[in-house]
Formats: sequence, structure tokens, C-alpha cells
Amino acid sequence: MTTPPTVVFGGTGFLGAVLVRELVESGRPARLVARRPRWPSWAEDSDPLEILEADIRDPRRVAEALEGAGAVVNATSLYVASRNVGFEDIHVTAAAALARQVREAGIERLVQLSGIGASRDSASAYVRARAHGEIAVMDALPKAVILRPSVLFGRNDSFLSNLARLTRLPAIPLFGQGHNRLQPVHVVDVARAIVRLTGADRPERYLFELGGADILSYREVLSLVMQHLGRERPLVPLPFAAWHALARGLGWLPEPPLTRDQVILMQSDNLVSEGVGTFADLGMQPRTLRESLPACLPDI
Ligand SMILES: NC(=O)c1ccc[n+]([C@@H]2O[C@H](COP(=O)([O-])OP(=O)(O)OC[C@H]3O[C@@H](n4cnc5c(N)ncnc54)[C@H](OP(=O)(O)O)[C@@H]3O)[C@@H](O)[C@H]2O)c1
Repeated sequence: MTTPPTVVFGGTGFLGAVLVRELVESGRPARLVARRPRWPSWAEDSDPLEILEADIRDPRRVAEALEGAGAVVNATSLYVASRNVGFEDIHVTAAAALARQVREAGIERLVQLSGIGASRDSASAYVRARAHGEIAVMDALPKAVILRPSVLFGRNDSFLSNLARLTRLPAIPLFGQGHNRLQPVHVVDVARAIVRLTGADRPERYLFELGGADILSYREVLSLVMQHLGRERPLVPLPFAAWHALARGLGWLPEPPLTRDQVILMQSDNLVSEGVGTFADLGMQPRTLRESLPACLPDI
């Protein structure tokens, strides 16, 4: 009997693309879904891979994408809301509708991507939508797995590449004092965790938080990046009020490089909490940012 495909919504994204590759390389059929899907450059014609064009907000296209599926992963994202599409549309309404369709299709497993710190009480509309989305998905499909990663890094990421770009400045402005702590996690580790969570031998847990092996302040991450690149720059604390004013000013751009929600996220720690599923429950040891830097920022 052939293994049914794992459907990856957001299969061209930073995480989704790595997940699709990990699935195929582990011998599992994958179906890559996005609004503008592309055949990955690494893939051979003979690979167990299909690509399908669908907007997650279109139930008819979603139904086609789910046909014959064994598992589903929702790795779509929306980081900047616009007049046409808001956080609630993607992270709550579309995520819950997908979960309902997964249930109605009798598919055993759905992994819904969220993020560490998801909270209904957050000052950030993005973070609130993530929390409402988790609840709506669990209501629609109580056996769904909610997966909250910390900030993702890897080759061609935006996290480390943006920090590397900052080191070209004569001095680097910090969010506040730069003391907020992060637990950056390698994108391949998260993808491999999802391969396990959608496989036959999966743990009976429904909430996972995945953080990397290093807990580092923003200041420490910047120092590691500078050390790796052989650049030394002064780190200059900048009050959050100034960052909020900057984000407000940039808010008029169609694709602002900094948003209010990103500033709010930098005002608190982003760490794995107690009592949730972790890499350990999947028998995995995540890698460290320190050791991964040379591979992630090779030619900058
Ligand atoms: N990156 C991080 O550091 C991080 C940290 C914590 C949590 N997460 C979560 O992990 C998930 C994946 O994040 P990512 O950074 O990999 O995202 P990403 O790189 O922005 O990729 C988003 C993917 O979603 C697809 N997409 C967007 N809107 C869609 C729609 N309406 N219908 C169908 N597909 C759509 C995009 O392709 P098209 O535009 O072609 O449709 C793309 O494949 C998200 O839920 C994110 O919140 C990410």
C-alpha cells in the first residue's frame, strides 16, 4: 500500500520549503501547497512530490489539496496585515476552516504552526490572532497539534541575515537594553520535528514549544554574529518608545521593514515554557546557534 501524502500549506515558505524537502528525503510523499507554488530546485522528477496552487481561504481549492492526504501541516504565514488581509483572516478564520475540512475529510493529523508567546492578552494584534487561532483550531479538531517555535534561523533566513546586515552600520541600535532573551531554533530541527509529528510513531501530546539549545539575549546574539563576521561595532540602547515611533512612521509603506507587532515581540522573552511538549518528547536534541552560524552565514 502506498503512503498517503503529507500536505504542506505554505510549502514554499522558509519553514515549509525545508519541511517538504525533509519529508521527501525521508521517503514520505509530500504535496506542496501555496498561492504561487514552485517546483523546488533540489527535487527530481521521480521524487514523491506534487505541487498544487491554492489559497488557504478558498474552501474548494483546500478540499482538492486535502484529497487522499494522510496528514496536513499549516505553515502559512502573515506577518504584516494590510487593507486586503488581516491577521484574523489567515491565523484564525482560515486556520479554523482548514481544521474543519481536515476533520470532515477524516484525516488523522493536522499540525498548526503558531509561535511561542501566543496570548489573547498581548498588546500585539499578531500575537492575539495566533492565540485565537490556536483555540479555533482546537475547537474544530481537538486532536490537532499546535506547534509553537521560537524564532527560526537557518541558511537564507531573515533573522541572522538581517542582523548581519545591521553589522554594516557604524553602530547598532538595540531594542531597549537588548536584554530580552530568545531561544533561536534551527529551521531543519523544527522541520524534522514535524516529520515525526506527522509520522506513524508520534507522541500523544497536542502542544509543543520548540526552542534551540542556546538561550541568548538579543545583545548576545548580535555579539555572536559580529564575532563570526569579524566586525566590532558599539551596541547602542534605544528606548522602545523610539522604536514604536519608528514603526508608526514606517507603517505607511506597503511592506514596512519594521512593524509595531515586531517591536512588541522584542519587549519580552521568547522562551520555551514549562509543561509543554519539547524536542525531548520527540527524542531530539536541537542544535545550537553558536555552532550553526558558519553554515548559516557563509558568504557575508
Ligand atoms: N519564521 C519564524 O521565525 C517563525 C517563528 C515562529 C513561528 N513561525 C510560524 O511558522 C509558520 C511558517 O513561517 P515562515 O516564516 O516559514 O513563513 P513564510 O516564509 O512567510 O512563508 C509563508 C508561506 O505561506 C504561503 N501563504 C501565505 N499566504 C497564503 C494563503 N493565503 N494561502 C496559501 N498559502 C499562503 C506562502 O506562499 P504564497 O505567498 O505563494 O502563497 C509561503 O509558502 C508561520 O505560521 C509562522 O507564523 C515562524
